Amino acid sequence: MRWNLGLTCAAALSGFASKASADVFRDPDTGFSFSQKDVPITTNNDHITFRVAIPSPAPANQPYDAVVQIVAPVAAGWVGVAWGGSMTNNPLLLSWYNGGSGVVSIRRATTHTAPTIYTGATAQILKKGVKTNGTHWQVTAQCAGCTSFATTGSGTKTLNPAGSNRLAFAYSKAKPAQPGSATSPISVHDLFNYWEHDFAAAGNPQFADLVNRNL
Ligand code: HEM
Repeated sequence: MRWNLGLTCAAALSGFASKASADVFRDPDTGFSFSQKDVPITTNNDHITFRVAIPSPAPANQPYDAVVQIVAPVAAGWVGVAWGGSMTNNPLLLSWYNGGSGVVSIRRATTHTAPTIYTGATAQILKKGVKTNGTHWQVTAQCAGCTSFATTGSGTKTLNPAGSNRLAFAYSKAKPAQPGSATSPISVHDLFNYWEHDFAAAGNPQFADLVNRNL
C-alpha cells in the first residue's frame, strides 16, 4: 500500500520533475535550487509541496528576499504560507493559479478573521515557474519582506537563513471571488498545518540573477 501511494505521488508530479522524497530540488524551469517539503493535506491523503530559495550568503539577523514555489493539487482554490508559523501577526503569502497565470498577494491578520492587504512586504510572480498539468498547479513568487517582519508591539522576527524555521500553511478549496485580482476577497480555509522548513539547504549564490531571469 505504501508502495502504491509512492507511485501515485510520483506519477502525479512527474510533469513537474519533482522527487517527493528529496529535500533539495533543482528546478530545471527556473534554475533555482530549492529546499522543499511535502506537507500533508490531512483531509484527502494528498499533499502540497512547498519550496523555498534564498540568497547565499544571507546575513544573519538581516532581512533577505525569498522565492517560494508551491505545487498544489488542482482542487486548491488558494494556498497561503504564514512566514511566522501562525495565522496572526506575520506576513501571509497567498497564491493561486488563474487561467495560465499565477497570482500572489501578501496579507496580514491580527485575529482569526479575514486578513487585510499587508504593505510591509512586496511579492511578484516569477512567470517561468508557473505551470499546470492535469493534477497540479505550480506558482513561483519572490517576496521582499517575508523573512523579517514586525511581530507584536515593537518586536521583529527574522527567519534563520542557516537553520530550520517553523512555517504554516492554509488551504482553501474555494477560489478567490475575483481570481484575476491580487486584492480579491477570500473565504476561510478548509485546513491548515505546520512544518519545519530547512532554510540551510535553500541557498542560491546567483539569487538576484535568477530572479531577473524568471520575471
Ligand atoms: C477569510 C480568511 C480567513 C479566515 C476567516 C480565517 C479564520 C481562521 C480561524 C477562525 C481560525 C481558528 C481555527 C481553529 O482554531 O480551529 C484560523 C486558524 C488559522 N489560520 Fe486562518 N483564516 C483566514 C485566512 C488565513 C490565511 C490567508 C492564512 C495563511 C496562511 C491562515 C492561516 C491560519 C493558520 C496557520 C491557523 C492555525 C492557528 C494559528 O496558527 O493561528 N488563515 N483561521
